[in-house]
Amino acid sequence: MAGLIPQTFIDDLLSRADIIEVINARVPLKRAGHEYKACCPFHDEKTPSFTVSPSKQFYHCFGCGAHGTALGFLMEYDRLSFPEAIEELAASMGLEVPREAGAPQGPDHRPLYDMLEQAAKFYRRQLGQHPQAARAIDYLKGRGLSGEVAAEYRIGFAPPGWDNLLRQFGTSARDIDRLRDTGLISEPDGKRYDRLRDRIIFPIRDTRGRVVGFGGRVLTADDGPKYLNSPETPVFHKGRELYGLYEARQALQDLDRLLVVEGYMDVVALAQHGIRNAVATLGTATTADHLDRVYRVTPEVVFCFDGDRAGRDAAWKAFNTALPFMRDGRQARFLFLPDGEDPDSLVRKEGAEAFTQRLTQALPLSQFLIDKLAEQADMNTLDGRARLAELAKPLIAKLPGGTFKTMVEQHLNDVVGLAATPAPEPGPRRSRPKATALGTIPPVRRAVVLLLQRPDVAAQADLPSDWNTLDMPGIPLLGDLLETLRQRPDISPAALIDRWPDPETRRHLARLAALEIQTLDDAAEQFRGVLVELSRQARNAQRRKLQQVYRPSAMTDEEKQRLRELYGAGKASQSEPGRGGD
Ligand code: GTP
Ligand code: MN
Repeated sequence: MAGLIPQTFIDDLLSRADIIEVINARVPLKRAGHEYKACCPFHDEKTPSFTVSPSKQFYHCFGCGAHGTALGFLMEYDRLSFPEAIEELAASMGLEVPREAGAPQGPDHRPLYDMLEQAAKFYRRQLGQHPQAARAIDYLKGRGLSGEVAAEYRIGFAPPGWDNLLRQFGTSARDIDRLRDTGLISEPDGKRYDRLRDRIIFPIRDTRGRVVGFGGRVLTADDGPKYLNSPETPVFHKGRELYGLYEARQALQDLDRLLVVEGYMDVVALAQHGIRNAVATLGTATTADHLDRVYRVTPEVVFCFDGDRAGRDAAWKAFNTALPFMRDGRQARFLFLPDGEDPDSLVRKEGAEAFTQRLTQALPLSQFLIDKLAEQADMNTLDGRARLAELAKPLIAKLPGGTFKTMVEQHLNDVVGLAATPAPEPGPRRSRPKATALGTIPPVRRAVVLLLQRPDVAAQADLPSDWNTLDMPGIPLLGDLLETLRQRPDISPAALIDRWPDPETRRHLARLAALEIQTLDDAAEQFRGVLVELSRQARNAQRRKLQQVYRPSAMTDEEKQRLRELYGAGKASQSEPGRGGD
């Protein structure tokens, strides 16, 4: 469906893109003469041999030979396909990618879209004026929907009767063809009827907002199948469309996450409660096409399923479909609802806040994998754990390469390996070959390593807190990690890392989580020690700042007081500025 991107646009985009900006946003560059340098992101190195030339608009690594353009870098580093990289680059420059109608032109579907739009207006009108519409309105009210939300989703009413739509629109042979081609009428044994009769109508819109099909719900329980949907047509494919996606994008500027639910009513009920980022599959399992669509507009998908057997099975399917999409920076999580509830019933029962709260409990993909496989293997035996590792292999193989994959592998190793480690043998302890001594790691990073490898250190009482005013790389990250662990002390390191959407940070954290440390026996003291040291530095920095900015005569009493406090005992005039800092 997506047309070709015009070559002129690509040429223009590439000539305007700045490779320094593109790379620097991902790998911080340092100026070196006419060029820029960094440690190569494509191989492991300590001294920078990755060089970017602004004049040539080209990068080259003298270490591993990697080279290419801004676009090539995006494709390599963000693991994007060519059109995705173009989209990314254009977006970073605030441009929209045009699509050609394409030379190899398919059939012209405009008359079909037109007919569908007319039908949507017709159903909508009937909800306002048909003599029987009161039943439909009562039904919608009974399900808690306001007029505003019904209007936003263009909810309508197909009145009772065999041929309302047909009489309205099927006045010529050509129009009857169109009614047929859009699935609006059905023709069993030569007769012709409106497909949707005496039903609440949910128009399904594509990402551009065009009506492509309809779902229709009965008003009373025993009136035939609960839902009838448009059949597959040239413009409607159930495996591709998601109900509510257009509306979600209209309502929200930034879709930092999308919820995938099962039913039309779930989407509109959530919207009614202000949760506007839900979309529904159309009575089918989640497909790769669906995921392709959602991951274009959001980095995170939360699948909401019933807690019952069927829901678990559906989640497993969605999980398998999602694996190949999990490149760095993307996330999929799984939320299981209490038995017998769906998002509609739940949000109406417990409100938006409680529902949103549930979302924070959704299982990250890696955890779901392990939980699921652990059901099939006895984790208490060595054989069982080996089996779990075996079962996981083909699944992990479906993940695209990258930090996320490494992390899942690591997580799995932790689960399988940790418990599998036999009791330490007596005798002299051999230190492992490449283990790092904690003391050799710079303080902020050391604290992060400790949080990742010994999360319990976060729970200590009376840790200093003024360190986070320190203006130093890594401080905000350290603060976030600590805060998260305080709120969720049971979170696994992998899940902790999963919370960071940006691939660079995840890569960094994953590396630190995997670092082998000689001993973590004194983790708690080490952690406290770092924070105490950072606190001291923070106070020194503040002191220096106050002294630099203000001469004592120009200081307010308040500032003088603050300065005295920073010196500890009101000896402001005697101490040397900057002393004791490092
Ligand atoms: P209600 O809350 O009862 O209105 O329905 P729901 O939105 O909770 O739907 P349910 O969980 O029963 O089903 C989920 C989705 O499956 C629906 O939104 C429809 O897309 C689809 N579906 C449900 N029942 C039928 C049916 O009888 N026929 C077809 N074709 N699809 C159905
Ligand atoms: Mn329901």
